[in-house]
Amino acid sequence: MLKIALVVGARPNFMKVAPILFEMRRYPDQFQTLLVHTGQHYDSKMSDVFFDDLGLPLPDVFLGVGSGSHAVQTAQTMIAFEKVLLDHRPDWVVVVGDVNSTVACALDAVKLDISVAHVEAGLRSRDRSMPEEINRILTDSISSLLLTPSLDANANLLAEGIAEEKIRFVGNVMIDSLRRFDAYTAQTNALEAVGVEARAYGLVTLHRPSNVDDPRQLHSLLNVFEKIQQQVPLVFPVHPRTRKMMTECGLMDRIGRMPGLRLMDPLGYKDFVQLERNAQLVLTDSGGVQEETTVFHVPCLTIRNNTERPVTVDCGTNTVVGTDEGTILREASKIIAGRGKTGRIPDGWDGRAAERIVAVFRQIDTQTPELIMAAQAESL
Ligand code: UD1
Ligand code: UDP
Repeated sequence: MLKIALVVGARPNFMKVAPILFEMRRYPDQFQTLLVHTGQHYDSKMSDVFFDDLGLPLPDVFLGVGSGSHAVQTAQTMIAFEKVLLDHRPDWVVVVGDVNSTVACALDAVKLDISVAHVEAGLRSRDRSMPEEINRILTDSISSLLLTPSLDANANLLAEGIAEEKIRFVGNVMIDSLRRFDAYTAQTNALEAVGVEARAYGLVTLHRPSNVDDPRQLHSLLNVFEKIQQQVPLVFPVHPRTRKMMTECGLMDRIGRMPGLRLMDPLGYKDFVQLERNAQLVLTDSGGVQEETTVFHVPCLTIRNNTERPVTVDCGTNTVVGTDEGTILREASKIIAGRGKTGRIPDGWDGRAAERIVAVFRQIDTQTPELIMAAQAESL
């Protein structure tokens, strides 16, 4: 029996952990799971709604860490999670993605000699000004098992000197959740609620500090949205960080004068994905949204200078457009004129990543909670 602590903390964690937890629970003789929520995200629309939508059980442990500077948030998480590890002594800690909760919990575990598995290992933007890039590099460097979503990630890890036997290409577990709700997201009731028609609107998400914490940059992006909303309506569920900055910068009046720009609170997973799937174009700086649009063959413009998910550009529907107003407008116009990328779905993004992840754990010796080296690796 392996005792496994699974960590969630922020919005993009829930849809990655849910499929792994469900799959582990299919083998009650082999796995005892402990779901830990750090509370990095805590608004009901950033957290509770995902438990309802994904059918996740309530967390076994809730740490209630909340917001703060990077140091405060990371340190508070470490202090609280260390106690959980000492109380429960799991064999493994599973962390996903690249948020502060990811690195904090991984660091706690490794210092207590508990093995860490990192799901979504190996992604690199090569932009160390992004807090997430630091979290990825640190988490990967202390993990015993690196579960990658795409083969570029394997290459990145090998180039950093990480031993090959620790790395497993399992595919993209976020897509497992996406596929689970295919029947729901093919419908259009969320569109009706917003008042838009399929393939006749754009969907916007924005929350990177580089885009929203700098007032000049936020103003500039609003110039872009102002022009695009004259051509197609834009649906914009606003992240709390972004709403706070819009309010502080006094932008709400200006936004109120753009009839085609529909601001709203963050959406639940199923409604958001429905809007994503049926959009004509998506404008975003999210990591996960770049991946989901690729799976739905919906053209995506990533408002950043780089991506840690190059497979969405090379293979999928993503275009990294940077932050120049003219470039974003030109690329958006191409899509609105019907010349967007259609792409193909990357290997291993098939809705079965959790099966492959759990298959790796099933090969792990309970007496020696280390990988059976290069074990009969589950290959795709
Ligand atoms: C975090 C992650 C980012 C991820 C994003 C997903 C880090 C360093 N960043 O960014 O990688 O893409 O989540 O959404 O871990 N807030 C609320 N209510 C909430 C949560 C946040 O009001 O439930 C507000 C607070 O003012 C907070 C701010 O949003 O200070 C930022 O939250 P934080 O978790 O620090 O970072 P995110 O920008 O959400
Ligand atoms: N998402 C959601 N509601 C929203 C915006 C996003 O359910 O209003 C989902 C989206 O479908 C994806 C995940 O949240 O599954 C992406 O999270 P986010 O953009 O916050 O973080 P990132 O992926 O950039 O780390």
